[in-house]
Parts: sequence; C-alpha cells; structure tokens
Amino acid sequence: MLTPDAPELAPLEALDPRRREVFQARLERWWPDLWQALSEVYDDPETVARRAVGQAAAAYAEREEELHSLDLRRSLAPDWFQRPDALGYAAYADRFAGDLHGVADHIDYLRGLGVTYLHLMPLLRPRPTPSDGGYAVADYRAVRPDLGTIDDLRDLATTLRQHGISLCLDLVLNHVAAEHEWAVRAREGDPTYRAYFHTYPDRTVPDEYEGSLPEVFPHFAPGNFSWSSEMDAWVWTTFNTYQWDVDWSNPDVFCEYADVVLFLANLGVEILRLDAIAFIWKRMGTNCQNQPEVHSLTQALRTLARIACPAVLFKAEAIVGPRDLPAYLGTGTHHGKVSDLAYHNGLMVQVWSMLACRDVRLASHALRGLPPTPSNTAWITYARCHDDIGWAIDDDDASAVGLNGWAHRAFLSDFYTGAFPGSWARGLEFQSNPANGDRRISGALASLAGLECQDPYAVDRILLVHALVLGFGGLPVLWMGDEVGLPNDEGWASEPGHADDNRWVHRPRMPWRGGKEPEDAHGVGARLRALLAARSDLGHLHASIAAEVLEPLDPGVLLVLRRHPLGTMLGGYNVTEEPRSIPMDLLHDIGLGDRPLEHVTGERLHLDGAHEARISPYTAWWLTT
Ligand code: GLC
Repeated sequence: MLTPDAPELAPLEALDPRRREVFQARLERWWPDLWQALSEVYDDPETVARRAVGQAAAAYAEREEELHSLDLRRSLAPDWFQRPDALGYAAYADRFAGDLHGVADHIDYLRGLGVTYLHLMPLLRPRPTPSDGGYAVADYRAVRPDLGTIDDLRDLATTLRQHGISLCLDLVLNHVAAEHEWAVRAREGDPTYRAYFHTYPDRTVPDEYEGSLPEVFPHFAPGNFSWSSEMDAWVWTTFNTYQWDVDWSNPDVFCEYADVVLFLANLGVEILRLDAIAFIWKRMGTNCQNQPEVHSLTQALRTLARIACPAVLFKAEAIVGPRDLPAYLGTGTHHGKVSDLAYHNGLMVQVWSMLACRDVRLASHALRGLPPTPSNTAWITYARCHDDIGWAIDDDDASAVGLNGWAHRAFLSDFYTGAFPGSWARGLEFQSNPANGDRRISGALASLAGLECQDPYAVDRILLVHALVLGFGGLPVLWMGDEVGLPNDEGWASEPGHADDNRWVHRPRMPWRGGKEPEDAHGVGARLRALLAARSDLGHLHASIAAEVLEPLDPGVLLVLRRHPLGTMLGGYNVTEEPRSIPMDLLHDIGLGDRPLEHVTGERLHLDGAHEARISPYTAWWLTT
C-alpha cells in the first residue's frame, strides 16, 4: 500500500486536505483489488500498481470541479444505469447530425425519447480511410477533424450531462492504427515501442498460433498477421492489416491505456466501451479470446477509475458465445469488479432466432443456462448495433432442444438473407467463411423484420423486438434509426471506402424532417414511445434483479419472470403470426391472478374463468398485479 508521503502521490500535495483525504480513502479501499488483478498478469505487480496509482493521482488532481461533484453524486446513486428510466442510444455523430455541434442541436430529440446515455461511435482521430469505421485510432487525444476538436468534445459531454445524458465513447484497446505514434516509432526501430506490439521474424510462431485462431474478417483481411517490411517482421493484426494488436503483457502498454482512460474520464466521458476486449490476451493453442488475463486487466483498469474518477463506467464489447459471456460482468474473484455493463449478445441472437423459427424453445433453453449476473451490473440489451450479427448459438444448447447447431445457424443465415422460402427478411451476407460455415448478417432491424418486403406483420414484429429488448431487464440501447424503423440504406456502397464492408447497409443517415424529428413513415416511432413510457414507470425492470426465463408452456411464447420486491412481473412475447396462449395456472401460481395489469396498453386483462390467456400475434405483454 502507498503511504500518503509516497512519491507517487506528490500530485496531490497542492490539493485541499479534504480532497486529498478522499483520494487516500479510495486508494485504501481499492488497492487490494488493483494489486490482486495486476498480480495475475505481471511479475512485478507492486511496481506497476505504484506507477498506475501515480497516474491516477495526477489525473485526480486535474479533474474539474464539476466532475468531482459527479463522482460524488454517482457514488450516492450507483444504480443510475440499472434503473428502468435509463435508456441508451447509439449513433455516428456525422450520420446522426453532421458533427459534434450538430449532436448538441438534437439533444431535445434524444431527451424526448427518454435517452440518458448516448454512445457516439468512434470519433477519436482515426487513420485516413479505410479506418474500420473509426476503430483504427491514430490518436486517442484528438477528435476526427471534420467532427470537431477536443474542446468541442468536452463541451458536448458537459452539455449532454446538463441535460441528463451520459456520454459513452469507445476505448479501442486491442489495437491501434498502423499510423499511431507507437506503431510509427516501432517502425522507426525504437525498441521501447517495438515491444508494444507482437512481432515475429518469420512465420514459425504465427503459423503455430494460426492453428487455433479464427479469422474475424476472412474476406477483406484473411489471417491474423501482416508482414511489415519496415519492421522486417510479421505483426499481429487480428482485424484489418492496418490495425496493429498491442501487447498487453507489456506493463508499459497497460500504463499507456490507463492514461487514456483517465484522459477521457477527465474530458467528461462517463462510459467507456471496451472495444474488442475479448481479444487482448494471446495464448498459444487457444482462439486467443476470453483468456483469464482479459478479466484481470479489466479489473485493474476499472479499479484505477474507481480511485480517480468513480463516476466512470466500463462497458464490455465481447461478442462471444454464451459460455464465455458472463465473465465480462464478473465471475469468481472478479465478481462485480470488472465491467458494469456488457452487451447481451446471447439475447440479441436468440431474438432473431425465435422470430425466424416462430419457436422459443432454443432461446428459452439457452437463456436459462446463463448464470445470474452481479447485482451491481447490467446487460446492455439491444436488437441491432453497427456490427453484423454472428450466430453465437452453442451446439449443446441446440442439441438439447433437438436441433443441429450447424444446420440451425445455416438456416438463420439463409433466412435473414431472404434466401429461405417464405422469408420476409432482406439482410446481406457478411464475411462468409466456408472453412467453418459461418455466414454473418448485415441489415437494419426493419429490413430484417420484414418492412422492405412489405410483410403485413413487419411493423408489429419491429415493435415486438423493441419490447423484448426493453422488457428483459438491463440497459436497452437503441441503434440510430431503429426507433423509426429505418430500412437498409440502398446507397451504402457508394460512399468512399465503404463498398467492401456491407455493415454500412445498416448505418444510414438520419432523415430529419423539418430539422428536429425524423420521418416515421410507418408509425414505429409513435408506438415505440408508448413502450418507452410504460417501461420507465415499471420498477420491476430494475437491472439488479435477474430475469428468469421460464420453460415454455406454448412453444410460440417466450416467458420472462422478474421477481422484484415490488411484486412479480411476467413478460409474455408471442413470436408467431398466430394467436397463442399463456395458461392461467401460471398466472395464478406466480400471484398475478385473473386480472393482471398489462403495462404496454395500460389496461387490465379480464380473464376470470378462462383456462388460458390468449395473446395476439407478435404481441408483448408486461404483466403485474
Ligand atoms: C468491434 C467493433 C467493430 C470493429 C472491431 C475492431 O467489434 O464493434 O466494428 O470492426 O471491434 O475494432
């Protein structure tokens, strides 16, 4: 432990004694977690911990008054992101509103939806196009020039906060752009920076790794290593050849990212989305994802934030299978100590699977298999995001309900590209990989739900998807445009640098009508607002309470139970185009009786004397007493 006179704490000397005391108290509270996490990764955890605490002290000393007060307020309401009135929205600043000033001009729209959390897609200075949608960062301390400046970003974070919206930004920490200063200096031959990357003089070691490594972008970036003639070496590049993976086994890399976390926190960023976090630790003979050290490193960074800037939350972007997912919210010794939020990729995939097969048995089985999450965390629930959908369906889950995992995944790809007879969906195949049969899907929610085909149920299906995401429990995040059912962007390939990457099909520009409200041609927005209003009043949806998915009683109806001290809530979701049923015995057993209140419509059901409650096609019920 560091004593108050430790040289690392010198930056605190100029501070008011009370403020110094706060830092010291936090350090005492969190030092064991920091030390434990670092000792799982580094040979000399004490040295790394002291250095990192010194960085935290410097950032704390520079933190603005308003942000210190935010730290205090968040520590008094640590569940702010778990409450049912918390709502997320994700957008590209330029496609949403031109630039950072434009985003500020649309705050009223976001507030009108009830948004309290805004994820702006990568906006730190990337390499020149192509930049993987900004995920190839060339400078973590500068903003993409056409969007604004660092001062504009700080101003936007402040303005958003004044309107009750927390800003979320990406922290891309698996790789940097080949144009980032670290990579440039490595190429210039500086051994310190060369040690920031995984480099190999010949193919021996890369080939050994390749034996167990999947390919993320088999079409536009096959393999996981790229030759650099300037380095005279193979460099690890999991994603594109211009995205160089950094080597987290080097403590200097840890300290660099600690600084970036503290820098962004002091700008007023409140949530850091840990991009591609699953990939940051490499181990021979594995797929180099989800390694235990990933969670140790997350805990170490999270603990530093708790010391210097505790208002800041971490959100894990780990789009991994159901067995690996729970660890991102903390399991075992990391319980409750890693990310506060993590994408519920499993739920997202199962939503689309249920709709395609009009059957909830696989989804129910898979979701029932997930362990409860720490009560101080929340899933990010979502239907779509800027990425493709990969069918993360476990073979064992599939066979438990009589399906073949491989065949089911192939069916879903056929269904969502519209190739399957009778499909209503119009998605595009993304990065098909004949080696393992993977065929991922791009496409907007509305187009995947049937709007482009003018399927008569399309709008109901879109609303059902929204209801599933809003009613599960967690922090729901709307992907820009989905709130008004924007379909695929027909012109996606014509923009410079986009033609190779069909994920741009579901990254449209916002069609503002009269400047302030988007077109809502099919009335999706109006109906969604009613759902959002119902949700924000439903205390049962607080994310500290786990969702219990029940054994299905009708294969077309997903049943989600939430046992809250306020009472029991049952979510019932008919994923078919026929009326289906919920047995009255269930409603009686869980204490909802004959006249439960249905919150989507706000009306009581009158089911006296019935044997079953009939639920209409593509209808969601949120029932309480
Ligand atoms: C994340 C992003 C994805 C990007 C990748 C590499 O998965 O969501 O868009 O391609 O990381 O940075």
